This record gives sequence, structure tokens and C-alpha cells, in this order.
Amino acid sequence: MKAVVYKEPFSVAVENVPDPKILHPNDTIVRITSSCICGSDLHMYEGRTAAEPGIVFGHENMGVIEEVGAAVKDRKVGDRVVMPFNVACGFCKNCLGGFTGFCTTVNPGFAGGAYGYVAMGPWVGGQAEYMQVPFADFNCLPLPEGTEHEADFALLADIFPTGYHGAELAGVRPGESVAVFGAGPVGLMAVYSSLIRGAAEVYSIDHVPERLAKAAEIGAIPINYDEGDPVKQIKDRRGTGVDKGIDAVGYQATKAGSSAVGGQQDEVPNIVLNQLIDVVNPTGALGIPGLYVPSDPGGVSESASRGALSLNFGRLFEKGLSLGTGQCNVKQYNAYLRDMIISGRAKPSFVVSHEVPLDEAPDAYTKFDRREDGYTKVILHP
Ligand SMILES: NC(=O)c1ccc[n+]([C@@H]2O[C@H](COP(=O)([O-])OP(=O)(O)OC[C@H]3O[C@@H](n4cnc5c(N)ncnc54)[C@H](O)[C@@H]3O)[C@@H](O)[C@H]2O)c1
Ligand SMILES: [Zn+2]
Ligand SMILES: [Zn+2]
Repeated sequence: MKAVVYKEPFSVAVENVPDPKILHPNDTIVRITSSCICGSDLHMYEGRTAAEPGIVFGHENMGVIEEVGAAVKDRKVGDRVVMPFNVACGFCKNCLGGFTGFCTTVNPGFAGGAYGYVAMGPWVGGQAEYMQVPFADFNCLPLPEGTEHEADFALLADIFPTGYHGAELAGVRPGESVAVFGAGPVGLMAVYSSLIRGAAEVYSIDHVPERLAKAAEIGAIPINYDEGDPVKQIKDRRGTGVDKGIDAVGYQATKAGSSAVGGQQDEVPNIVLNQLIDVVNPTGALGIPGLYVPSDPGGVSESASRGALSLNFGRLFEKGLSLGTGQCNVKQYNAYLRDMIISGRAKPSFVVSHEVPLDEAPDAYTKFDRREDGYTKVILHP
């Protein structure tokens, strides 16, 4: 089958790889209809992780079940399904606690597995024609038959739940004010989720004009950090900080005036974390779905290469702030968010800017990585 294969930094190719097989009676094989490119893929694409050439990318996958193992009970051939990016067993201690992003079964020696991702286990990605899904009854979320809401449902694999997770980690409640750093797909979903949860005022901070425009379209107040310190811009408007803050940027955060290409020399990995500590009012909370890694081959300093960042922890303590981090436990949210899409209460596909055939993946990676031509969220259709 055809699949998107990582070759070297800034290069992927569509190549023939072996078809996936049922390896365990709990497996299914899914024929992929949609697989998205994620900001998380770009960390690997840019050579900023330990990912080795040859890995098949793709952790945001949906499709139709083609084959089921003998022990799969509720999923059937022909079912339309979307898979959380987390691969999880459903029965380990973390899964039982709802922490399916930290499953200890699927990636021995580590807590957490994912498709097509460095250090997340043997699971081959779904930017391909077919994909093996283990523990299929647990990992395949059923969807209504047909083709309706395809782009909305595809976002249930990661970014809609992850944006919601950011709002959940920050404990966003009705009537609150929220600052969301990053207006990439995850940031836009964090803005959207904060509004769904009833926030009164949401600030969206970025410097890519198309992305800030999308945030404004759904009701956020856009703040361009190239036009001045975003914390000051928010405090000047409000006369105070905000109740809650969300980091949807991660360790490749850049300083003001950096090129949209995100030149490494412009990176300041701790900038957003310290701005959050600054902008959130005393007793508030920080939700940090933005990715931070313990090993970054391209780190801007020796300590950054180890993921050791300097934080204003004294200020955080003094303000009595709480914070939450980590991979999204997609299973906690995906069925509920699916039902919001079906009932017409949510339409996350407003973030999708491009839908292209699998063969065009190399070009889509290049443009998405440069955040050019309005590339905000790309869905590949094998
Ligand atoms: N926790 C999880 O489960 C999970 C899941 C998916 C993605 N992620 C992570 O979430 C982050 C965002 O993902 P994405 O797909 O939206 O990525 P993205 O790269 O498309 O978006 C990041 C945005 O942050 C902006 N940015 C850079 N520096 C900034 C700064 N100093 N202040 C404000 N904005 C700044 C960029 O311009 C860009 O628009 C990534 O780190 C990704 O790895 C985490
Ligand atoms: Zn993703
Ligand atoms: Zn588990």
C-alpha cells in the first residue's frame, strides 16, 4: 500500500510499504478515508525529535473497517470509525483511571502509545491506505454511516479533544476570561472549546494573520505578539490579567518578529510558559497541551536539548497558580464531542484549510511547515 514515509529532516515521500495485517485477534484493519497532518508531525518532520527515517506518519485517522480479528466483539466490517491518536488497552491502571494517553500496555517500558509517532510504540501511522488498530472495540469510535461531517469527525482523533483538554486542564468555567497562546489548529480548538464551556472573553495570541482571523471569526479577541508584548496588550485592555491560560504552542515557541517559517534561531522555548504565569491572575490555572520534550536534538541551548527550561516558579507559587500538562486522553472526550457534531452544536472543521490526495503529502508538509498559503489544517485523503 501507499504511505507517507519520513526520509530526513524536511522531507517525506509517498512510498509502497507492506500492507498491515491482523496480528492479534483484537485487531482490526481500517481503510483510511481521512488522515490529518498535525503540528506534532512537524516536530518530527523538522528533525527536532529522535524520529528515525522510515517511520510512517499519521496519528489523526478515520476510515471504514475492512477486516476484524476473531476476538473483536462490537466493531464490524463496514463500520465508519475514528481512532484516538492514543493507542490504549482499556484495562491497565492508567486506562481504568481514564488516562488513556498514558496506557502502560501498548508501549512496554513507557506510559503512552500513538500511531506513527516517535517513542510511542510500534504502531504504524495512518497517512496510508490502511492501518492496523489494536484493541479495536476500545480504540475505534463508531460514527454514523455515510460521508457526512467527514472533516469534523476526522478532528476527533486529536485536535478537537486536545483543544478541549487544554480548556479542561485550565478548568475553564462559564463567565471566565481565558488567554490561549497559539492559534494553530490546537489553539483554535482550545478557543472554540473555551467558548463552548461558556467563557465570557477569550484572547487568541499568535502572529500568523490567517490564524488570528479564524480566531476572531469564532468570537475570540486576536492579539498579534509581533505588535508588542502580548501580556501587556491583554492587561492594557482589561486593566488586569485573565482567569485562565492555555499553552497551545509548546517548546518551539518563537519571539516577536520571527519569520513565519519559525527559524530555529528565533525560538525561546520557555517564553509562553512565563507569559502565562504573568498573565493569569492569582489563584488561576494553566492548561498546557502544547508539547514539551525531554530530548530535542535541535535545542537552542544545552539545557533546552534536555527539555530543562527556566520558569518563574516563584511567581507561580506566589500567585497560587495550578497547572496541568500532558498528552490528551482523547477517550475522555471523543464520544461527547462526536455527539455535539451530530446534533449540530459544534462544527470544528472551520479550521480545515486544505484537503488533498495522499500523493500530495510532500507538498502539503512543506507548505504547512512554513505556515504559508493559509495552511492551517490539512486532511489527506488516500
Ligand atoms: N497534548 C497533546 O495531546 C497534543 C496533541 C496535539 C498537538 N499537541 C501540541 O500542541 C501544539 C500546537 O499544535 P498545532 O497543531 O496547533 O501546531 P502549530 O505549529 O500549527 O501551531 C502553533 C502556533 O503557535 C504559534 N506561536 C509560535 N510562537 C508563539 C508565541 N510565542 N506566542 C503565541 N503563539 C506562538 C505559531 O505561529 C503557530 O501558529 C504543538 O506543540 C503540538 O505538538 C499536543
Ligand atoms: Zn495530532
Ligand atoms: Zn492501558
